Amino acid sequence: MFRKKTVRDIAIEGRTVLVRVDFNVPIHEGRVADDTRIRATLPTLTYLLEHGAALVLASHLGRPKGRPNPAFSLRPVVEPLAARLGRPVQFATDPAGPDAQAKAAALQPGQVLLLENTRFDPGETRNDPAFAQRLASLAQVFVNDAFGTAHRLHASTVGVARYLPAVAGFLLAKEVETITRLLEDPARPLVTILGGAKISDKIKVLHNLLPRAERLLIGGGMANTFLAAQGYRLGASLVEAQARETAIALLETYGEKIVLPVDFIVADRFAADAQTRRVPVSEGVPEGWMALDIGPETVERFAPFIREAGSIIWNGPLGVFELAPFARGTVAVARLVAESPGFSLVGGGDSVAALHQAGLADRIDHISTGGGATLKLLAGEPLPAVEVLEDKP
Ligand code: 3PG
Repeated sequence: MFRKKTVRDIAIEGRTVLVRVDFNVPIHEGRVADDTRIRATLPTLTYLLEHGAALVLASHLGRPKGRPNPAFSLRPVVEPLAARLGRPVQFATDPAGPDAQAKAAALQPGQVLLLENTRFDPGETRNDPAFAQRLASLAQVFVNDAFGTAHRLHASTVGVARYLPAVAGFLLAKEVETITRLLEDPARPLVTILGGAKISDKIKVLHNLLPRAERLLIGGGMANTFLAAQGYRLGASLVEAQARETAIALLETYGEKIVLPVDFIVADRFAADAQTRRVPVSEGVPEGWMALDIGPETVERFAPFIREAGSIIWNGPLGVFELAPFARGTVAVARLVAESPGFSLVGGGDSVAALHQAGLADRIDHISTGGGATLKLLAGEPLPAVEVLEDKP
């Protein structure tokens, strides 16, 4: 259960509401290349507008290091946002400076103002109280709908809640509720699929998921380290030598739950036009070659667990998904997850990209808009930007 107040629990009519959104979207040649995160905030923004609020929207984009930098401007978001909202969106050329102050003060109910990138001010990432206070002075209520940034302890995510009544938007509430429910009370069996390069990035996630899940299917670079720890030859594959002890300890405690690859697609170099072939793990990766994807027998081995899952949590690609010859394993697993009757949660940029590439995104029950924030929840850790919101009575 989500124990924080949401937009439904606070009076908003006739008030100006500061909404922290995560519009950290990919920009190519001055245009928004993927508006998923913009669309994800529409239920909250529409609700607030329909209930008589004026909106001041704050977000970061990229990591501009506390200085204005046109490459990280939020201006390209204005047009697609206005089109989605079906009303004009004003733009302030600073995040909480004179332009933002003047435009926010003149807002009427139903009007929308987007602030320039909060990270153009050095106070944002330092959670500087003076910057948080300037942001708060733009509105009378604070709504956080930026799930993707909820793991950051910044002025616009945490600091501002000290100065305004602070509640959650629908996206933030739904993400936290869905992920928490899957961890605490999943339909069984709970099957988790983890990929990505390193164990060390996901140690806490492994420790939190393994006691809860019936199975953990592992692919990607992470699997290499587990297999190397069991004595298999990995050739020139990515193996994290310093994570060997962790891998051994996890295998000792949870060996029966962990399902590792039984074959690889190996390549003679890290390139899309490399020579490739399939090798069984038992044979080992040839000297100088590297494992860059799971093989078809591994997909077959994973398949029954995914098909019979009551719930699935998937994070991270199972091979070097960005190079076409090594995307097959990830796409095959994406298809299995989409076809499974179990409730599916997919988080993390690459696994979500694989779903989109395979045209399967609409067959997943919950695609998380978070990367780091999703991992933090999966690791069982609190999100600072959620903690500071008002509790439900
Ligand atoms: C994300 O894309 O994960 C969020 O917007 C957070 O961005 P950050 O990692 O730069 O804080």
